[in-house]
Amino acid sequence: MKPALSFFCLFFALIMPALAAGGSSVQRGRELIDALGCKSCHSYQRNGAVRAPALDGAGKRYSWKGLRKLVSRNPPGKDGLRMPGYRALTATDYKALDRALSQR
Ligand code: HEC
Repeated sequence: MKPALSFFCLFFALIMPALAAGGSSVQRGRELIDALGCKSCHSYQRNGAVRAPALDGAGKRYSWKGLRKLVSRNPPGKDGLRMPGYRALTATDYKALDRALSQR
């Protein structure tokens, strides 16, 4: 096998699962929180809006499936404010969001 090819095999076999399981999914969750505009309504890590409850630690109250259920139900808040349904999110996205939201 060519050296470059064996490096790629090693990368996918050993490093990718570690990345998927480890702290990097918290990072991915934070990127999603920024990219999806959650902070236009919620605060997280002391920034964002206060139109809906703060998200810090919210992941501790929900499993990733519970979070998916909640978000796709797009709950209404006060003043008719409604959370978007985010139908395009995958299970991996919800796991990452749940990990990020479990941080303080
Ligand atoms: C348009 C405003 C809006 C946006 C954007 C939004 N939400 Fe919400 N969110 C709400 C409202 C309103 C509620 C319901 C609040 C209530 O029950 O009083 C809510 C509730 C929640 C809850 C439950 C809070 C709790 O303490 O139990 C979680 C978790 C949550 N949102 C996560 C998210 C995530 C993650 C995103 C981004 C992917 C997001 N929200 C984007 C408005 C929004």
